[in-house]
Amino acid sequence: MTPAKRIQYHEYGGPEVLRLEDFQPAPPGPGEVQVRVKAAAANPMDRKIRSGEMKLLTGRKFPRGLGHDFAGVVIAVGDGVTRLGVGDEVLGGASLRAAGAFAEVVVAEENAVVAKPANLSWEEAAALPVVGLTAFQAVVNLGRLRAGQAVFIHGCLGGVGRSAAQIALAHGASVGGSCRDTAVPEARDLGISPIVDFDFDAAKLAKRFDVVFDTAGTLPVRAARTLLKPGGRAIDINPTPAKFVRSALPGPFRVLVSKATLADLDAVAQAAGKGILRLPVARSVPLGEAIAALTDFERSPRRGKLVITTS
Ligand SMILES: NC(=O)c1ccc[n+]([C@@H]2O[C@H](COP(=O)([O-])OP(=O)(O)OC[C@H]3O[C@@H](n4cnc5c(N)ncnc54)[C@H](OP(=O)(O)O)[C@@H]3O)[C@@H](O)[C@H]2O)c1
Repeated sequence: MTPAKRIQYHEYGGPEVLRLEDFQPAPPGPGEVQVRVKAAAANPMDRKIRSGEMKLLTGRKFPRGLGHDFAGVVIAVGDGVTRLGVGDEVLGGASLRAAGAFAEVVVAEENAVVAKPANLSWEEAAALPVVGLTAFQAVVNLGRLRAGQAVFIHGCLGGVGRSAAQIALAHGASVGGSCRDTAVPEARDLGISPIVDFDFDAAKLAKRFDVVFDTAGTLPVRAARTLLKPGGRAIDINPTPAKFVRSALPGPFRVLVSKATLADLDAVAQAAGKGILRLPVARSVPLGEAIAALTDFERSPRRGKLVITTS
């Protein structure tokens, strides 16, 4: 295959280590698919991985590609792949270790790639995988949220929080959440009530929620306990060693590290296809402008996804 362009880096560090360079795409291995990327979306984990915060998991092999979420067209399949074929329009996520979605071509494991609903744009589809999957696994799988129950989402307008709110509402649950003062109208438009600020007094909402989902990792344990009904569950997606220990003990606290499964990713894609799940795109830039846009987003975070397109 001819060389392709991708954003990659040769050492862990700040956004200044990023380069747009040619690379030689590897053919898909067994159980993998190779995709011509149409759009890719940024997530906070891209920054954490690039900075070296996760190097125990991501290793020391360079150059490393950046980015996980993508939507595009399958151009090759590895041995054993029968569900997907060349020409299929898909969305999915590159593995934590491999990354490399901010590129013209990416390789991903088959079970992290599903059909793109025809009514979604490439940008809308690329915005979904990490946040949609994490929200689905938190609210539906781990939270076991049912119709008539109530969930509180700390950070309800981030990518994961907004996805969780929409998924919970579609399951017939009610959703309360926290956001900034200036964002209250946006949360209200989503159907969230009550809405409180990040520093709220949990005592005023005591024992009102079956599930407490802390997307920001900043909710004090005591506040989560106060919010929960007896038998409720508290889910955190920003793991620390202490949180992993608490998660292993009996009690309501659980840490979630999302992992792509075909069924969950497909449920997320279907929900988006039906209009249940929508992620606002804050900015869409071509690959050639993506390093500047990633740097800008990191220095001045804003709500909505940063999407990178390739022609
Ligand atoms: N464990 C996993 O599998 C997994 C998967 C996906 C993501 N994550 C992690 O989960 C976090 C959220 O991801 P995301 O994609 O939703 O990020 P995001 O889109 O940047 O959203 C973060 C949200 O947190 C809000 N926030 C900021 N300060 C806060 C505070 N002090 N208290 C409560 N909320 C606060 C932000 O509000 P403003 O926009 O108003 O600042 C924003 O709504 C990230 O740290 C990410 O790395 C973990």
